[in-house]
Amino acid sequence: MLPHVCTPIPGPKSRELSGLLSKFENRNVTFLADTFPIFWQRADGVNVWDADDNRYLDLTAGFAVAAHGHTHPKIQEAILKQSQLLLHAMGDVHPAASKPLLCEKLSKITFERWNLGSAKTTLCNSGFEAVEVALKTSLLHSGKPGVIAFRNGYHGLGYGALEVIGIPWFREPFRSQLRDYVTLVPYPSCFRCPFGRSEGYRLEGTRFPNCALSCLESIEDQIAQAIRQREIGCIIVEPCQGRGGEIVPPLDFLRLLRSICDRHKILLIFDEIYTGLNRTGSLFACEQFGVYPDILCLGKGLTTGFPLSACIGRAEIMDAWPKSAGEALHTTTFLGNPIGCAMALASINLHLEPETAARVQRIGRQFLQQLRTLRHQSIGHIRGLGLMIGMELVDLNGNPDGNRAAQIMNRALQDGIILLGGGPEGNVLSFTPPFCISEEEVDFVTGRLAHYIEGI
Ligand SMILES: Cc1ncc(COP(=O)(O)O)c(C=O)c1O
Repeated sequence: MLPHVCTPIPGPKSRELSGLLSKFENRNVTFLADTFPIFWQRADGVNVWDADDNRYLDLTAGFAVAAHGHTHPKIQEAILKQSQLLLHAMGDVHPAASKPLLCEKLSKITFERWNLGSAKTTLCNSGFEAVEVALKTSLLHSGKPGVIAFRNGYHGLGYGALEVIGIPWFREPFRSQLRDYVTLVPYPSCFRCPFGRSEGYRLEGTRFPNCALSCLESIEDQIAQAIRQREIGCIIVEPCQGRGGEIVPPLDFLRLLRSICDRHKILLIFDEIYTGLNRTGSLFACEQFGVYPDILCLGKGLTTGFPLSACIGRAEIMDAWPKSAGEALHTTTFLGNPIGCAMALASINLHLEPETAARVQRIGRQFLQQLRTLRHQSIGHIRGLGLMIGMELVDLNGNPDGNRAAQIMNRALQDGIILLGGGPEGNVLSFTPPFCISEEEVDFVTGRLAHYIEGI
């Protein structure tokens, strides 16, 4: 349904709740301003209602989580059924009966589906924890502490994940409690080529810029140098960068990383917490590149609304972890929570329906095409795969224009459209709606965007 706004935004109840937060929540957590935030009260499909009963169109799927739409009936049913039986178990001691079923399912839909044998999983509570388990696995497997990660990459904010994050300002305040075992190398982003070699780049953008992909040679050189300088155990990468600005790399990039890893016996970790589970129009983004990892991290759209994530690896690699003798080396109180497992199993079944990926491809294509009809000097680049789309806004000199993106997000919110900004400079409008967004809703959003872009 299209938005319906019946109060000034934020409405009186949202303002009241902001007041409460300002007193009682760590002030660094929620951004509070005159125009921000609204407080979510309920949601259904692609719509969210706030505490003042204004109805919004959610173009974020709540950080790319609510893939099948908010409060999907099949997910509700799974929660309801599970909640009548068991809310909590003893994850690494006496687990919930659904935990083995989920681990088996994760093996089947990943490495077994790719004909790479069976997989083993550690279930975690949030994306960053899954990343940290992947890093621990790499060390246990190879004994080599070094990691290669990518500039502008995002892997979450725990201390382990902070080590590999490629957006420096998240790390800076905590630098003195961090170690230095990571080499950051450039990510091949065609619009802002890190090597200044974007000649031949075209706005209508194929995924093959006309520059002979020389970036890949430079990236290979930098990785080779790192391998000479320190003991590297793994490369961790997002197949498409999400928070870094919805960046789709050239097709050969992941293939290059796979071949480097194979040559040097280094593990390849794909962080598909954002891109995984149909967000890009295939069950996993890596499948579109024909390249498979040794370890895969999933979260967000896995449960579509419960803090459960997974680090899944080829069985022989995960077996680098010693067999438990009674004390797990990595566990948490809520590991394998039964509600989370039930939601993940129900959500995976929906992800496996052929119409799910087909719909993301179809609506994603329409959305991308319509956005590309918008013409304005402030639109630097429009890119994406499936329903993971970015619109990069620039100033008159072509520099990132985070202010313009913020103004557009504010205008959109006033009209009942929830949008998020991404990219290291906050100048990329991100579109990651629930998969059930309709063609009419996409029309509506592009129409409103045209208006904002002209008017700001
Ligand atoms: C690619 C990627 N990895 C890891 C994370 C961290 O996940 P979480 O916020 O659940 O810890 C995110 C979150 O946005 C992400 O996009």
